[in-house]
Amino acid sequence: MNIRIEHIGIATPSLDDALKFWRDALGLEVSHTEVVEEQGVRVAMLPVGEPRIELLEPTGPESPVAKFLDKRGAGIHHIAVRVDDIRASLARLKEQGARLIDETPRTGAGGCLVAFVHPSSVGGVLLELVEDITTDPRV
Ligand code: CO
Repeated sequence: MNIRIEHIGIATPSLDDALKFWRDALGLEVSHTEVVEEQGVRVAMLPVGEPRIELLEPTGPESPVAKFLDKRGAGIHHIAVRVDDIRASLARLKEQGARLIDETPRTGAGGCLVAFVHPSSVGGVLLELVEDITTDPRV
């Protein structure tokens, strides 16, 4: 099985403020920005080698990231791993008794398929599975 770190999601009340550190001070480059309406976030992606830092700013007070910021403050929100077949990974996790937030994949940043696994099954870490279908010949 081919599983790799895809990105680390960091919640911030302000992308502009977060970019002052990650882009301006540290020197990373922004490869991609996007609003993901379905998840209520404005996203900036900054590659660090192959994996990326994903900065997440809520688009409104109902955004799950807004709720996270209210409860926990800015910081690491989730870790995302890339899998070859997200439906197979979800089926496996379900069979293993993991609590899935998404039983079926949905569309995430960059047009990838994504699904979240509940932190209660991951030792307190919100885990995102990502399958990049943009290069998938089956689609
Ligand atoms: Co993510």
